[in-house]
Amino acid sequence: MKRIAVMTSGGDSPGMNAAIRAVVRYGIKSGLEVYGIKRGYAGLLDEDIEPMTFASVGGIMERGGTILRSSRCPEFVRKETRAEAAKILKKHGIDGLVVIGGEGSLHGAMFLEEEQKIPVVGLPGTIDNDIAMTDMSIGVDTCLNTVVDAIQKLKDTASSHERAFIIEVMGRSSGYIATVSGLVTGAEAVIIPEVPVNYEELGNKLLEERERGKINCIVVVAEGAASAYTVARHLEHRIGYETRITILGHIQRGGSPTAFDRLLASRMGVAAVDALLRGESYVMTALQGGKIVTVRLDEVLKEKKRLDMELVRLAGILS
Ligand code: F6P
Repeated sequence: MKRIAVMTSGGDSPGMNAAIRAVVRYGIKSGLEVYGIKRGYAGLLDEDIEPMTFASVGGIMERGGTILRSSRCPEFVRKETRAEAAKILKKHGIDGLVVIGGEGSLHGAMFLEEEQKIPVVGLPGTIDNDIAMTDMSIGVDTCLNTVVDAIQKLKDTASSHERAFIIEVMGRSSGYIATVSGLVTGAEAVIIPEVPVNYEELGNKLLEERERGKINCIVVVAEGAASAYTVARHLEHRIGYETRITILGHIQRGGSPTAFDRLLASRMGVAAVDALLRGESYVMTALQGGKIVTVRLDEVLKEKKRLDMELVRLAGILS
């Protein structure tokens, strides 16, 4: 193996830059040439590929977003498009590819290996924490800290005005961000796709709490369960006090990565290069019980990551 390439793909997540830096620096130190592919699979198809140097990744670890930029590339679901991408990689002499991204991006990598025999290693990069077989993905911790900070601020104003706030967070079809942020901010309720909601019961509980003297009410809703507007429509008339809605949106994807994400991304970046160097491919780096390991891409992608129901239980009993 002489030349590898790295790309970030799909929704960006904080820590992607630290992963790029690790792949580039460790790759070069291991005697490889390392190329950066811009804008994920879309940039690959446009041959937006450039050599990376030790210096080109200087000062990026603390930056949010991704210096390689990212995109969603719906046409990559087509086999012919992936064949085209493989041709481009071969033309540029790239004999190993590191893909940092979420489920869709990892599927793209898996098919590149299966159909085109391109050696690939994936790194789980998504705020949603919905990738199976890894305890955490790159960006989850920073996202949680951003969400917690926002909820704390909303709690201040909720208390001053004795209002209820319905706060919608991201997560696609996973309730992880909502559950953990709700748990650690002491939210009165968390609404997630994994657990059906009974608005009547919830309304009664919130009403009782108000009657007992609680001056604020925070309900965190995962985007995959319902929109904040729907929740407000169901609850406002039941609880009878002023309700405000906040949709946190893409603020959850930005910001300087936490120490945890920088460390996770750095460890995974090095592990990805090591995997390629020892001839391992068709794998994703994963965090399992504190250790970085590699797991087969097909096994990761056939599984849906299950939300730890103990977290849901804790969020319920401690609110
Ligand atoms: O997968 C990350 C994520 O931020 C999801 O939580 C969200 O549903 C989606 O991406 C938003 O995607 P986009 O940035 O394309 O609107």
